[in-house]
Amino acid sequence: MEETMEERVEEQVEEKIEEKPNVGIEDIPGVGAATAEKLIAGGYDTVLSIAVSSPGEMTEAAGVTETVARKMIQFARESMNMGFESGQDVMKRREQVKKLSTGSEAFNTMLGGGVETGCVTECYGEFGSGKTQVAHLLAVNIQKEDPNAVAVYIDTENTFRPERIRELSDGAGLDADQVLGNIKVARAYNSDHQMLLSEKVEDLIKKQGLNVKVVIVDSLTAHFRAEFIGRGTLAERQQKLNRHMHTLMKVASTYNVAVYVTNQVMAKPDTFFGDPTASIGGHIVGHNSTFRIYLRKGRKGSRVAKLVDSPNLPEGEVNFMVTAAGLQDL
Ligand code: GTP
Ligand code: MG
Repeated sequence: MEETMEERVEEQVEEKIEEKPNVGIEDIPGVGAATAEKLIAGGYDTVLSIAVSSPGEMTEAAGVTETVARKMIQFARESMNMGFESGQDVMKRREQVKKLSTGSEAFNTMLGGGVETGCVTECYGEFGSGKTQVAHLLAVNIQKEDPNAVAVYIDTENTFRPERIRELSDGAGLDADQVLGNIKVARAYNSDHQMLLSEKVEDLIKKQGLNVKVVIVDSLTAHFRAEFIGRGTLAERQQKLNRHMHTLMKVASTYNVAVYVTNQVMAKPDTFFGDPTASIGGHIVGHNSTFRIYLRKGRKGSRVAKLVDSPNLPEGEVNFMVTAAGLQDL
């Protein structure tokens, strides 16, 4: 019987794995010019990007069969010497982590210094709780420490306001025009567009060489929520949302960037005790976020931020006002 293309690829992969050479994607067995092009178009331009992928993701993004994808991933993993690293190596990486200021000292302290780079921070809360205000503040405040720091703002609800950036820049003693110049805004018109934009962030960093410090997605879930209504489409929505979160996490950890996403809450009518609200996207968003902040309206126009989930910080609550100049601690 004639050997199929797939079988040939599998054999070649097995041979190459034995050798463990130092490889680029073109060295992966079975990857000819056409496949390489497809892989690159699908965002797989390094061996690392293949190594950390899953067969399902690769099949979808690069149009290879699942068996071939699995073999490529295996090959990429073997050739990369991936696996365990010492605690000291992890410590060194932790030392690169920066904390971005929210503008409120108490809020920063609760977060262990500010919004961390290298991971995803989710901020959820009802309308008007201040999620978008915090997003604007992060975009401005990063430029206090580094005048070249760039914020990427993926705006899904048309709530980015340059006027507000001006006001907050004045409040922070920064040149508003320069601050505005360092914020790259893109309006996302639907969930697919939003996902595409999040994939393009890598180009801004790699190709355009921008010093991106924070990627904001405001709101993470609004389009998904509007487009996928009803039980039947829920699984599909969660799957897409999961993929979107993975893209964001990858950017965060590969480039030591902070990712700040906002999320609405929905009423849980069957709750009798505790808070009768839950964030949209459920465990998909929750599990893919390293830090979770719950914002709500407090007394006399104040806002309350609660740290709900974090790897190494105690839960806490802080109180502040949103003012013209930024956040003011109470
Ligand atoms: P949704 O996007 O609707 O879910 O709400 P959100 O959580 O993003 O709320 P947002 O950040 O837009 O906060 C709105 C609140 O912030 C308002 O109710 C105001 O109290 C305050 N705020 C918004 N804009 C300004 C401003 O320009 N100046 C001042 N002083 N306060 C503002
Ligand atoms: Mg908002």
